[in-house]
Amino acid sequence: MSEPLFKVRGLEVALPDMARKPLIGKAPMVEILKGLDFDLPRRSVTGIVGESGSGKSTLGRALVRLLEPSAGSIEFEGRDIAHLSEAQLKPLRRNLQMIFQDPMSSLNPRRTIGAIIAAPLKQNGLGDNLAERVAEALRRVGLPEAFAQRYRHELSGGQRQRVGIARALALSPDFVLADEIVSGLDVSTQAQILTLLEQLAAEMGLTVAFISHDLSVIRRLCQQVIVMQHGRIVEAGPTDQLFEAPQQEYTRELIAAIPLPEIDAEWLSTG
Ligand SMILES: Nc1ncnc2c1ncn2[C@@H]1O[C@H](COP(=O)(O)OP(=O)(O)O)[C@@H](O)[C@H]1O
Ligand SMILES: [Mg+2]
Repeated sequence: MSEPLFKVRGLEVALPDMARKPLIGKAPMVEILKGLDFDLPRRSVTGIVGESGSGKSTLGRALVRLLEPSAGSIEFEGRDIAHLSEAQLKPLRRNLQMIFQDPMSSLNPRRTIGAIIAAPLKQNGLGDNLAERVAEALRRVGLPEAFAQRYRHELSGGQRQRVGIARALALSPDFVLADEIVSGLDVSTQAQILTLLEQLAAEMGLTVAFISHDLSVIRRLCQQVIVMQHGRIVEAGPTDQLFEAPQQEYTRELIAAIPLPEIDAEWLSTG
């Protein structure tokens, strides 16, 4: 086994609690993540699941250092990045990419899709053959090259999410954080986006942290799963093991809450 891409130990995150900020002075800190330990193996998709407010997005934001932990270490490629400055993080940024939940709000409405995908390429000194690189990025996610001339509002939800994926993968990162990326989409579009991500992750050797509140999606896509509740990890392990023999009551409840696939429901009602 090779070393994991991420090794996280004793990770804690505290944020200012704006709801309890006094009129004068600083808001008190509230602990969001409490002592998390886990690894993300290379070239694998790890699901992070848990009810709303359990700390999934906060964990994702700490991994890609959009926020600084209050304690613990985040080893990425063997180096602790938990407390690096923004300047120190800069050369790592192209390797730590994100796909957002709502591409509607993360894609600039006044720029063409081509310009949106080209931006990170230019920032990272890949400005030569830009049109060809953008076309390649669009092809990779199954969109026609001509989409480079279009704007956000001319695309469907699924097409916008493909652009979000194209932008994140344009720089061939090692790591991609995907936070609830299919939540706003209808079921058949969800399935297409998941198939695309699965295929690209395998082709490009990506390490993916896939955040979702939907365990059926996690089961389909992920090799291992981390279950979170109230800012802690309640259970973690290989996907098959976790679904077949969950050790914790909370995990059993999450699994029991998965709706039956439609075909099963039909079969039950007629049978
Ligand atoms: N910027 C913030 N300041 C204070 N509390 C926050 C902030 N962001 C999230 N929280 C709180 O942290 C907890 C975890 O939130 P989050 O990580 O968004 O959970 P999830 O993604 O699992 O729904 C919630 O109780 C939320 O209210
Ligand atoms: Mg979230």
